[in-house]
Amino acid sequence: MARPGAPEMAEPVAPVPVLRSCPPGLLGGQDTTAGGQPVVLEPAELARADALAPGPRAVFVAGRRALRTFAAELLDVPASDFTTHFRCPRCGAGPELSHGRPGYRLRGEPVPLALSLSRSSGWILLGAVVDPPAGVTMGVDLADPSGMAFEGFDGVALTAAERAALAGLAGPQLLQERARLWARKEAWLKMTGDGLTTAPDTLDVLYRPEIRDLAAGEAGLPLNFRAAVAVSRTGS
Ligand SMILES: CC(C)(COP(=O)(O)OP(=O)(O)OC[C@H]1O[C@@H](n2cnc3c(N)ncnc32)[C@H](O)[C@@H]1OP(=O)(O)O)[C@@H](O)C(=O)NCCC(=O)NCCS
Repeated sequence: MARPGAPEMAEPVAPVPVLRSCPPGLLGGQDTTAGGQPVVLEPAELARADALAPGPRAVFVAGRRALRTFAAELLDVPASDFTTHFRCPRCGAGPELSHGRPGYRLRGEPVPLALSLSRSSGWILLGAVVDPPAGVTMGVDLADPSGMAFEGFDGVALTAAERAALAGLAGPQLLQERARLWARKEAWLKMTGDGLTTAPDTLDVLYRPEIRDLAAGEAGLPLNFRAAVAVSRTGS
């Protein structure tokens, strides 16, 4: 309780993220033309795409085009004006980096967006915080329950408390809960920037106020998918 007469400390306010989903399709369900020109990726992105087999390459390219279009629309600038500025905790940051936390620069300055991207079963989920307060980061993740049916998932992916929370579930309900917890973990790990360098079975996500489960069908996603968004608190 606050000391009588002391000014009340305001709770840090969590910025509200903008979310967008893109259905499966050649270009991620986006209008990937700007002024009649296709949205073009940069050399580091194209090099990563070239190293992939045709199927994964199309999925990768669709996601990157969708992300660039999303960011450009949020700032109302041409997508071609951006330079990629991805950030990896191990490798650093810059236009030559093709992996890590997504970001762009506009005429040399960081764009005022905290961004995140996830792909699952051809769908893409994009998230952004516009004009994020200093240090605020975000993560989104999308999980298709049909991909959660393998034996050993709970042992590799869940903490003891999470396994206990799933005890007694079976069939579709079990897969949906696994997908929900997995989406929460990856959204968190993208928010922190750690990715899976943190072992998922050491990260308990049952109760974390920074993480929100998307409602079924939110952002236009398929009703059976599970998705989560995590936004770091200001001042933390
Ligand atoms: C990020 C991660 C948890 C999600 O992976 P996933 O479920 O396979 O894939 P998703 O589609 O949900 O997310 C992929 C997106 O996550 C984002 N991402 C990757 N690493 C990230 C990081 N460290 N922080 C925040 N976001 C990250 C990227 O936008 C990536 O999209 P891209 O493929 O266009 O680059 C996992 O890929 C991971 O841990 N990667 C990093 C591993 C690492 O650190 N490797 C060492 C590199 S030197």
